[in-house]
Amino acid sequence: MIDLEHLVAEAQTRFAEAQDTTTLENQKAHYLGKTGVLTELLKGLGKLDPEARKTEGPRVNVAKQHIEQSLNARRQALADMQMNARLNAEAIDVTLPGRGRKRGGIHPVMRTWQRVEEIFGSMGFDVADGPEIETDWYNFTALNSPENHPARSMQDTFYVEGHDSTGKPLLLRTHTSPMQVRYARTHQPPIKVILPGRTYRVDSDATHSPMFHQVEGLWIDENISFADLKGVYTEFLKHFFETDDLVVRFRPSFFPFTEPSAEIDMMFESGPNKGRWLEISGSGQVHPTVVRNYGLDPERYIGFAFGSGLERLTMLRYSVNDLRLFYEGDLRFLKQFN
Ligand code: PHE
Repeated sequence: MIDLEHLVAEAQTRFAEAQDTTTLENQKAHYLGKTGVLTELLKGLGKLDPEARKTEGPRVNVAKQHIEQSLNARRQALADMQMNARLNAEAIDVTLPGRGRKRGGIHPVMRTWQRVEEIFGSMGFDVADGPEIETDWYNFTALNSPENHPARSMQDTFYVEGHDSTGKPLLLRTHTSPMQVRYARTHQPPIKVILPGRTYRVDSDATHSPMFHQVEGLWIDENISFADLKGVYTEFLKHFFETDDLVVRFRPSFFPFTEPSAEIDMMFESGPNKGRWLEISGSGQVHPTVVRNYGLDPERYIGFAFGSGLERLTMLRYSVNDLRLFYEGDLRFLKQFN
């Protein structure tokens, strides 16, 4: 008689010792494989005499069942161990602090844009915008710029591919003034609007960028004068710089689309810039030819326009001395405004 008890016990020990499935399956082969110990025993039953076979057969089968049970139990245990190991490795520590989402901020030039809209809005000005790709007519001709005016030259202007319906080249608008014409041609007087937006010129240094922002102002009615311009613009500056300690002056200048034309200068009467005249905006009484191009009668309608740089206003408000800082995307710079 074979010591089946011992054999089963031995198999159970070996299974228990197997620390991974490969080892376990090798042990299984040792007992239950084609030439395994148990398999050989079962084959051997045939050689026994019938009496012995009757008693040995069931014993060997029971032993085989025990071994199979132990094997399956160990298989399950190893699978559980593996699963637990994985769960531990991938465990999420729910007590860790979350990854904070940083708050974005408004770009200083955009903040100026918003403030300009608010301030002029409070004075009854509409806000409108229009295309950055302009036709020659709106950007130059309608604004009384003669055909051979140097402002049209390749040096100042970004021309783009394509042509308008008259065959003239398209360009990136060099100022927001074309929006005077677009707006006036689609609205009835009184016209009281600001037109902020991006503008483009072939220009790049500490105070010029190829892309910059302007805000155009336009007030047209039957009786609008330079006094209104001075009143409105001074009021705007006081709100924008949050001080009453500033004075404004008009310095004669030239623009083809205004007559007379003036640069608006301002001077703080206190603070770090005290006593220095600062150039702040172009302006003037809209030229009769331009009023006609609005589709209006210049004998009846009169008014003023101005065009101010948003970067310039921002630099003065925050004492920034290099305009390029606005476009470098350096968070150390930008964070200071939020
Ligand atoms: N368009 C002029 C410029 O870009 C500014 C301006 C606007 C001047 C309106 C007068 C009136 O320089």
